[in-house]
Amino acid sequence: MTKAKTLLVTNALPYSNGPIHLGHMLEHIQSDIFVRFNRAIGNTVYYVCGDDCHGTPVMIKAGQLGITPEQMIEITSKDHDEDLKGFLVSYDNYYKTHSPENEEISSYMYNKAKENGYIVTNKISQLFDPEKNMFLPDRFVKGTCPKCGAKDQYGDNCEVCGATYDPTELKDAYSTVSGAKPVLKESVHYFFDLPKANDFLHDYIRNSGVIQTEMANKLEEWFTQGLKPWDISRDSPYFGFKIPGTEDKYFYVWMDAPIGYFASLKNLCAKNNICYEDFVKQDSDIEMVHFIGKDILYFHSLFWPATLKAAEMRLPSHIYVHGYVTVNGAKMSKSKGTFIKAKTFLKYFKPETLRYYFASKMNSSCVDVDLSLDDFMAKVNSDIVGKVVNLASRTAGFITKRFDGRLSDAPFNQEIIDRIAAVKDDVIRGYESRNYADAIRTIMGLADEANRYIDAMAPWVIAKLEGEDDKLQRVCSDGINLFRALITYLKPVLPEVAANAEEFLNSKLDFSTVANPLVSHTINKFKPLFSRIEKAQIDAMIETSKEDLKEANAQAPKKEAKNEAKSSEDRIEPLAPEITIDDFAKVDLRVGTIIEAEEVAEARKLLKLKVDIGFETRQVFAGIKQAYPDAKSLIGRQVVLVANLKPRQMKFGLSEGMVTAAGPGATEVFLLGVDSGAVNGDRIH
Ligand code: 2FM
Ligand code: ZN
Repeated sequence: MTKAKTLLVTNALPYSNGPIHLGHMLEHIQSDIFVRFNRAIGNTVYYVCGDDCHGTPVMIKAGQLGITPEQMIEITSKDHDEDLKGFLVSYDNYYKTHSPENEEISSYMYNKAKENGYIVTNKISQLFDPEKNMFLPDRFVKGTCPKCGAKDQYGDNCEVCGATYDPTELKDAYSTVSGAKPVLKESVHYFFDLPKANDFLHDYIRNSGVIQTEMANKLEEWFTQGLKPWDISRDSPYFGFKIPGTEDKYFYVWMDAPIGYFASLKNLCAKNNICYEDFVKQDSDIEMVHFIGKDILYFHSLFWPATLKAAEMRLPSHIYVHGYVTVNGAKMSKSKGTFIKAKTFLKYFKPETLRYYFASKMNSSCVDVDLSLDDFMAKVNSDIVGKVVNLASRTAGFITKRFDGRLSDAPFNQEIIDRIAAVKDDVIRGYESRNYADAIRTIMGLADEANRYIDAMAPWVIAKLEGEDDKLQRVCSDGINLFRALITYLKPVLPEVAANAEEFLNSKLDFSTVANPLVSHTINKFKPLFSRIEKAQIDAMIETSKEDLKEANAQAPKKEAKNEAKSSEDRIEPLAPEITIDDFAKVDLRVGTIIEAEEVAEARKLLKLKVDIGFETRQVFAGIKQAYPDAKSLIGRQVVLVANLKPRQMKFGLSEGMVTAAGPGATEVFLLGVDSGAVNGDRIH
């Protein structure tokens, strides 16, 4: 038995200017499984995250929305926290980089680095927007590619020919903030002297085992090219912390972002009376583990350790790098509906479906993980429902009905029960090394053995035999104990299922006692623990993701907004005359699910829908064809139906209600939906 450890585990901090999507979720799920597993084997884990609030994109987006960056980060932080909780991610603290703790630690580290000779200044020339009076990050300059002539390319690289260049090389450059032609302007910048840390970093990356070898090899390119001083300052206007001792210079967002890990930790420590210093001091014996994506490798494995070293603080113990998420084998795409927001996913599926699927495909390498939606459905249905939950549902009924919920005094087949202990080390090794796919394979191997055993024993046949009660009780108890072991092993991945199983088993699920079967123990009545995924749910999620895109586009400020024919003011209809609550009560609005949808070929605008409103099914002709040309994609969507509207005989058939929607018409029609939890037939009050 190895000594219990204390760990500080972090996940990359999501930016404040966008929603959490499934790309983020891969990492949050990966780190959460690691944390839950470590807690399960007796380690103490402090698990922190928060929002990455600073930088030009956040400042500009808030400006576009007509709110302050502070207001925007409040809104997004709540939203992110909610999404992550929705996926059962067990952070001890979800904080933010725009916080007093972060400002204090950033200033402290900067001053220390300065004291130790790591800060230098230099004058640089940069593109400047003369209308907005601001320097422009590369991403906020567009123009014609100097190599291939493609128009509207970003300031740092061309998406058409792949060339990389300096923004000053772009032809016909314009600022994407104002449209103005940028000019070159000089300014003093503050730099972190990365070359000074060269030898330390090289040794740290190569010899400390902090990072996967494939990543250490990748970093070698940087050492070969020679490290360059790192520009850590930005000029006003900028949303960030002012650099101590300056009037108008701000820390570049990537300077204070990883310090945000410490800020979140410090905030947690203050709330719980824990010593923060113990975590951050140079000789700390607490392991610090960062989970990151391969796109932010340099920031975490070069800049971050170098700033820590310069500030005389502890270094990361492990930097675990993962690949990207692809959907159906391709990059997530907004137009294909595969850029899926966390919220959209949760509207249609339990969080544990994705946790399980990602876990079943994850290893410790940096290869991308594909969410193949058909495979996702097949795997969840066959593994969680078909192999694990089914084991309990096939055996629990006999225990409840025939033995008052009491498990037998001894196993029927000790050999199969011994298999639980036999696989334990493999399961632990899989989780420990972040080769979750291996752990899942082992667990499902045990599930297959368990199911074969129950199939062979056929308790439903034994139940019909005279005088075989003892055998029936013991075989079914074996089934329950095997189920218990499977769920215990899956607990880091399926925490909610595990909590419900604990309730059913009337027993805590624990790695340390997994191999001791429950004997002479009373269990509770079995309730279904998981339901199958249906294809219609997947289709509906994709359709909603396409709608999310429409919504985001509608919200995104257009460059020529003020010249558009239909401004948002023109779009607003005059308010209808006042009504009383009794008037409103006359309209019977019901929740329903579209179960059939087809085009009416002869009508330009109509779709024919069948809507299940719980107690009956309605046929409705809806004038939404231009907005929803792919009728089938509506199947599975929950909508709000005016259910007591007088039926209307139309040329194509009877219309028995109206689906509600917002928007001016034609392609701009947006169906109303309801939050998850509403049941068909529910009335809207
Ligand atoms: O790439 C990103 O999404 C960054 N917001 C990650 C920051 S991680 C840490 F350094 F804060
Ligand atoms: Zn080009």
